[in-house]
Amino acid sequence: MPQHDRLPVRRSHFDDRFDDRFNDTVTRLDEAGARRRRRHFDDDDEPAAPRRAPDPAPLDDGPAAGDRWSTWDVGQHGPAPHPDWLVTELAAVDTEFGVLKTGKEADVHLVERAVPDTSRCCVLAAKRYRSAEHRMFHRDAGYLEGRRVRRSRETRAMARRTAFGRDLLSGQWAAAEFGALCRLWHLGVPVPYPAQLHGTELLLEYLEEPDGHAAPRLAQLRPGPAQLRALWDQLIDALVVLTGEGLAHGDLSPFNLLVHRGRLVLIDLPQVVDIVANPQGPSFLARDVRIVTDWFTAHGLPQQLADAGRARVLMGTPTLP
Ligand SMILES: Nc1ncnc2c1ncn2[C@@H]1O[C@H](COP(=O)(O)OP(=O)(O)OP(=O)(O)O)[C@@H](O)[C@H]1O
Ligand SMILES: [Mg+2]
Repeated sequence: MPQHDRLPVRRSHFDDRFDDRFNDTVTRLDEAGARRRRRHFDDDDEPAAPRRAPDPAPLDDGPAAGDRWSTWDVGQHGPAPHPDWLVTELAAVDTEFGVLKTGKEADVHLVERAVPDTSRCCVLAAKRYRSAEHRMFHRDAGYLEGRRVRRSRETRAMARRTAFGRDLLSGQWAAAEFGALCRLWHLGVPVPYPAQLHGTELLLEYLEEPDGHAAPRLAQLRPGPAQLRALWDQLIDALVVLTGEGLAHGDLSPFNLLVHRGRLVLIDLPQVVDIVANPQGPSFLARDVRIVTDWFTAHGLPQQLADAGRARVLMGTPTLP
């Protein structure tokens, strides 16, 4: 596991939208500042004596540097033992580095967690789920079939998609992804280490290339025959473990597979599907396998190898009732 050094921020790594959002924000702040200044000017006409004593200065218990205190003490922790590189000290401070990628349901930010005046620091990928009204995509209800939710009022609200139900659903995705990542981490499936869950924010091991860039998605690569074969074998090994546990990724694609220093890593797992409990489980699995097999064969994987890999994955599937 790499020990992350304090990173220089390379803005060019981030989604292009970062610049636009940044500029929009600066413009909005400028406008707000101008309004405040104007209001202050208007106040000059008012009587000099204040009508009431000024409010006391707000108490500011935030850190002197950085954006917030580490949320480690209030979050749910990832699997023990925690990796050495993970900063768990309560004196740590989180600093926002910017948006790594905006997605349909969540945005992935880079956050540095560091203990001031020491060399202890790590960089984390913060996946923040949007509230229901800000999401551009709502996962199909089919994913939720066969999932147990304790209280029937909540089950009914989710099924009817009431506002209450939608909020419950959106709050559940972060927890669902954290739970899936922890489970897969324990099984040895290659996933980013799930460091922490706090509300709708997941903090994950940042998969970083030696040059500081984020690990590329499989879709961005054009691997030669040897690398293609190696990545295919890794994928099949991971899927055999998943199906052996009765699970399917549920949204597997070359966009949800990262290649981190030659190692294939599965990401984006909130919708993990129980192949047995969910009546649509087998079709989610079949779709996952078809999408990745198509990508690999289109990039030169011999059909024979593709068929053999697919057979290994489907053979591991538990017997359906
Ligand atoms: N741990 C990580 N390390 C490095 N990059 C990451 C990590 N997690 C996510 N990313 C980057 O952020 C992108 C979005 O992550 P993810 O797929 O989990 O979110 P999403 O909201 O489902 O996005 P999308 O709608 O694009 O699928 C990934 O494609 C990847 O480029
Ligand atoms: Mg994704």
